[in-house]
Amino acid sequence: QKEMDLPPRPELFEFHGVSMIHYFTDNWESVQNFQAKPDDIVIATYPKAGTTWVSHMLDLLYFGKCSPERGSSMPIFERVPFLEFCVPGLPTGVEVAESMTSSPRLIKTHFPVQFLPKSFWEQKCRIIYVARNSKDNAVSYFHFDRMNMVEPEPGDWPSFLQRFQEGKMVFGSWYDHVKGWWEKKQTNPKILYLMYEDLAEDMGRELDRVCSFLGLSLTEEERCKVIEGVGFDAMKKNSMTNYSTIKVMDFKISPFMRKGKVGDWKNHFTVSQNEQFDKEYKKKMTHTTLRFRTEI
Ligand code: A3P
Repeated sequence: QKEMDLPPRPELFEFHGVSMIHYFTDNWESVQNFQAKPDDIVIATYPKAGTTWVSHMLDLLYFGKCSPERGSSMPIFERVPFLEFCVPGLPTGVEVAESMTSSPRLIKTHFPVQFLPKSFWEQKCRIIYVARNSKDNAVSYFHFDRMNMVEPEPGDWPSFLQRFQEGKMVFGSWYDHVKGWWEKKQTNPKILYLMYEDLAEDMGRELDRVCSFLGLSLTEEERCKVIEGVGFDAMKKNSMTNYSTIKVMDFKISPFMRKGKVGDWKNHFTVSQNEQFDKEYKKKMTHTTLRFRTEI
């Protein structure tokens, strides 16, 4: 019944050299002409790298003290609009961002670096990029595409993994995405580059890095509250962060807050898939200083 109300799953197509689906390109003109404010903070990620985690963290940092009810009464996609989002029947990301009265605005995007609207660069906005190792990222993306009816059909795991390596995913190649933002960061001090694995290893340390980047200082009590609020179990339980209010996602197939682990790829990759993947990875990642950890 639920399936019947939904349009068919979208198809991938090439858009300015990147694989995309129409839900994230239909509003291209107004997204590209988006007027940033100097205090806007962008959260940029390849899908499934920890976007919601860092979005909730930043929201708690900025608004947890003055409006503690916000984190338990407003879904994450209203607190942190998804800039390029454009699905019929729902406000676009641009509309949500433009109607925001709280400041700073926290704005999420999955765009590769070359797609970010130019106003964010002109206004010298701060950007927090979050990256996740390719193997866990691919696994997480696979389960997400299985349960999310506005994503393309994932097919089976072997074919999905193959397409992941070819960059035939929504928002294109993981390799190009993480490298593109990494190169940009080398010359732009307004970009903070975080790793999912570091967040999982030591949230306190990463929170301190984020605060120093943003020029925030927390009391010990505030710091503990944020750390508690962004814990996997807390976010999984919280209907304002677990996407349970979204009807295009079928949690019977897989929940949004799925495992939250580093190294779950070991439960998915066969030995030969892993060898082939490593070989391909080496080739694609030769000319970069960017290094990931696939276990902690
Ligand atoms: P898994 O599918 O591996 O569980 P995004 O928000 O970019 O879509 O990323 C979703 C991934 O981040 C999911 O990974 C999800 O479980 C994980 N995640 C979300 N919140 C988390 C948290 N508080 N701690 C650890 N992982 C979290």
